[in-house]
Amino acid sequence: MDKQHVPVITLDGPSASGKGTIARLVARALGFHYLDSGALYRLVALAAMKRDIEADDEKSIVDIARHLGASFSDTMILLDGEDVSGRVRSEACGEYASRIAQYPALRVELLERQRGFRQLPGLVADGRDMGSVIFPDASLKIYLTASAEERASRRHKQLMEKGINASIAELVRSLRERDERDGSRAASPLQKCEDAQLLDTTGLGIDQVVSRVLGMYAETRQS
Ligand code: C5P
Repeated sequence: MDKQHVPVITLDGPSASGKGTIARLVARALGFHYLDSGALYRLVALAAMKRDIEADDEKSIVDIARHLGASFSDTMILLDGEDVSGRVRSEACGEYASRIAQYPALRVELLERQRGFRQLPGLVADGRDMGSVIFPDASLKIYLTASAEERASRRHKQLMEKGINASIAELVRSLRERDERDGSRAASPLQKCEDAQLLDTTGLGIDQVVSRVLGMYAETRQS
């Protein structure tokens, strides 16, 4: 099948910008598939952490990615068949993922796996380089952002709901550190690509953002 005909919407942006929630809801509204690319980096991180592999051991990390037993269902993220949905979302896993995500060989290893999600009737993909590297011919590219304070307060709320205590100041610090690392790395840095539309979600509710994205997609289909 010629995948060029399968529509793709990319949602890139910094940590905790709400990409995952928005992308999932947009995919559901359109009946499209959904790719959570960050989960792939997190799964590699988790598999490496389980084997006590240090984040600076690039060769072992790339090897883990090559044999990664990742699968996704509507509600679960699985590693070698085990439900790890909660564990991949931990701050430790996110930190580790952000450190290894700078390895070009790891990014190359995960490239085709990500492109494989492009299936009819369409795909919504969220991450850092979905519009710039993985799906450069996407029908609609969105760069989703929000202030660090708002992102930290959203993450704080999520953690509290799970009964995990966290300090907002510490979350702001850690988000800024991760933005800096993701934005300054040489391989596929987080950046708004020229043909992406900026959507600042500071002060907006989830439903408002979802309907804006759906509106933007409808516009691309008219033009
Ligand atoms: O999006 P999420 O927070 O789950 O991603 C975890 C980490 O994986 C990010 O901090 C980033 O370093 C990395 N990542 C990436 N490219 C992607 C998705 C995630 O480098 N497309």
